[in-house]
Amino acid sequence: MSRIAADSFAPARHTLPTVSHLMELQDHDLPRANTSASPTLGQLLKRVGDARKEATGDGNETPVHQVLDLTDTTLEPRPLPFVLSFSSLTYSVKVPRKMTFRALFPRRLNRLGAATEADPVSGERLFTSTKTLLNDISGEARDGEIMAVLGASGSGKSTLIDALANRIAKGSLKGTVTLNGEAFESRLLKVISAYVMQDDLLFPMLTVEETLMFSAEFRLPRTLSKSKKKMRVQALIDQLGLRNAAKTIIGDEGHRGVSGGERRRVSIGIDIIHDPIILFLDEPTSGLDSTSAFMVVKVLQRIAQSGSIVIMSVHQPSYRILGLLDHLIFLSRGQTVYSGSPTNLPQFFAEFGHPIPDSENRTEFALDLIRGLEGSPGGTKSLVEFNKSWQNMKKHDSSARNSSSETDRQCLSLKEAISASISRGKLVSGATNDVNPSSMVPRFANPMWTEMAVLAKRSMMNSRRMPELFGIRLGAVLVTGFILATMFWQLDNSPKGVQERLGFFAFAMSTTYYTCADALPVFLQERYIFMRETAYNAYRRSSYVFSHSLVSLPSLIFLSLAFAATTFWAVGLDGGFSGFLFYFLIILASFWAGNSFVTFLSGVVPHVMLGYTIVVAILAYFLLFSGFFINRDRIPSYWIWFHYISLVKYPYEAVLQNEFSDPTKCFVKGVQIFDNTPLGTVPTSLKLKLLESMSNTLGVQITSTTCLTTGSDLLQQQGITDLSKWNCLWITVAWGFFFRILFYFCLLLGSKNKRS
Ligand SMILES: Nc1ncnc2c1ncn2[C@@H]1O[C@H](COP(=O)(O)OP(=O)(O)OP(=O)(O)O)[C@@H](O)[C@H]1O
Ligand SMILES: [Mg+2]
Repeated sequence: MSRIAADSFAPARHTLPTVSHLMELQDHDLPRANTSASPTLGQLLKRVGDARKEATGDGNETPVHQVLDLTDTTLEPRPLPFVLSFSSLTYSVKVPRKMTFRALFPRRLNRLGAATEADPVSGERLFTSTKTLLNDISGEARDGEIMAVLGASGSGKSTLIDALANRIAKGSLKGTVTLNGEAFESRLLKVISAYVMQDDLLFPMLTVEETLMFSAEFRLPRTLSKSKKKMRVQALIDQLGLRNAAKTIIGDEGHRGVSGGERRRVSIGIDIIHDPIILFLDEPTSGLDSTSAFMVVKVLQRIAQSGSIVIMSVHQPSYRILGLLDHLIFLSRGQTVYSGSPTNLPQFFAEFGHPIPDSENRTEFALDLIRGLEGSPGGTKSLVEFNKSWQNMKKHDSSARNSSSETDRQCLSLKEAISASISRGKLVSGATNDVNPSSMVPRFANPMWTEMAVLAKRSMMNSRRMPELFGIRLGAVLVTGFILATMFWQLDNSPKGVQERLGFFAFAMSTTYYTCADALPVFLQERYIFMRETAYNAYRRSSYVFSHSLVSLPSLIFLSLAFAATTFWAVGLDGGFSGFLFYFLIILASFWAGNSFVTFLSGVVPHVMLGYTIVVAILAYFLLFSGFFINRDRIPSYWIWFHYISLVKYPYEAVLQNEFSDPTKCFVKGVQIFDNTPLGTVPTSLKLKLLESMSNTLGVQITSTTCLTTGSDLLQQQGITDLSKWNCLWITVAWGFFFRILFYFCLLLGSKNKRS
């Protein structure tokens, strides 16, 4: 059946001469005699490289060419090197029990169906019950085949896929999953497999081609040249039938982009770019029309036939799709009710006593029957039991005619199988020939600096496509700067002016932090993309942190410059050009620290609104403890630690020192001593007399020109004595680094991407 379907559907090849041409290869480099199957993409790409090395110029010079045929499904039989076996997979979760009278005084109830509930006997069990999501599931998936998991919604399809893809914590999942008889470690699985999630997580402003290209840059090794990566992307675009949408952006709610089916295929594309050996997909066809769904499964069949194990869940496959599937597992409430090839379905149900009528779609009939049984008093128990005996019978049959090829396959160790697969061109990720299977394939495809460069490029591309975001930030900074500049226009050096200066600095320095709050949604939006990408080692988490920091710098520099320039001269701050330069640097440092702080928070909090609440509250406390409202020596000793962790303290003290460092400047002169006191309103002549009598009493001559308070006196009064302005600057910068490091640890601990 699959052959008929395949023949009726042979799209890409003829319509795409350019790509085929691109992929032309030298004949003498293709030892077709030893290749029993059609070459995989990886293999061909590898040979392109070898061919290039030998040829003096471009590979196109050579007269004899082999065209990479992506649509070739006519494969010769060959030994199957990979077998993924799983046995007795059982997974339960604890769910809170409703406190009812019956729960407290249990009585045996007639429980039906597969979902078992533990008896509430004592302690923990009184408040929680156990729900079994997977119940003793066994099976086998081979390379070259598509194994499909079917079942009604909630039957446990996604859970089974998660269990096989090692996305359930070890302690919770019972049973074994082995690849060629060896329990595989998560590190190896990460490299040789791919998992396509049920939802599409893509950058909305990148085009299809760019999205795939970034994926290629992450997952294909550095040794593969850029042009080959491009070729791989072009080949994939054709393979996935995305040629017409290649230059369209992915889009989101606000921007019109590719269709849902195309987006689904892009999602698959980014995960299969490196030609994985095992491919897991959770409902790759849901939400697609039947043609798109068929096209997706067709692509998966091609991938399987190139030597991969494909395991997917599917809701209700159409008749045509069913023809492409090799092995089915029907689930009902976490139990297997059928496991076998689609062709055996009629026989199975006939023997069970419910023959499938000719006019009916087999899977629809099976699913309806299962649903009917689930609602009946006996549940699906009879079917589960029947399936077990049927499986045993089949096993018995096949062991009776045990073929030699079967035993050969069983003998192939994991290491041999991976080597064989790599030599066939699988895993386009610079594999080596090591003794240990897990070190045969490198953990990451690229060195750190490449990852950083690609991440930075992607994030800059994204920001360039959404210039309004930066525009809004700049607008916010300029408006704040303008309001401050006009409010505090040309402050003088009188005691009042000094007070206003202090107020200006406290406000300006805390504002820089508040404007950083916009960094909050940036990572929250990217978080799931980041988790998906790092779950399969597309790049290191540290690269992400570095590139994230680097990319934020240019905009921070620009914003600081804008803020410093609008306020420095307008307010009449001191220090000339060097004063401005320091003012700019300390604003930049605060932006940096604030940005890092908010980024760290975005790694901790799950929701934007919660994030904003926390940012606003913490920044308010930082300002409170900065030393502006209450001097350091007046802060209660049990709160003094907060003063030292206040991010506002350091830039605030730095700008004050920058402002009041000139020893020749005077801020309280002669009669100004009475300003801000009850005597401030008395006439000047009286003030002069008062000064005179004070001079006599104190024995120090104080005239109307005597300087009473210099800048350093002011700093002393404000309690700003512990750090120099440069130290304040360095500490602010260090805070920024500190929060980036915390962000890194957050990512390390918080993105396990596994069920508990
Ligand atoms: N943490 C949990 N606590 C309780 N029940 C859970 C938990 N996680 C999953 N379940 C339940 O397990 C069952 C199987 O879920 P699963 O996501 O595997 O279903 P599915 O077959 O993939 O369904 P769909 O086709 O709708 O995607 C569901 O009934 C779900 O409610
Ligand atoms: Mg699901």
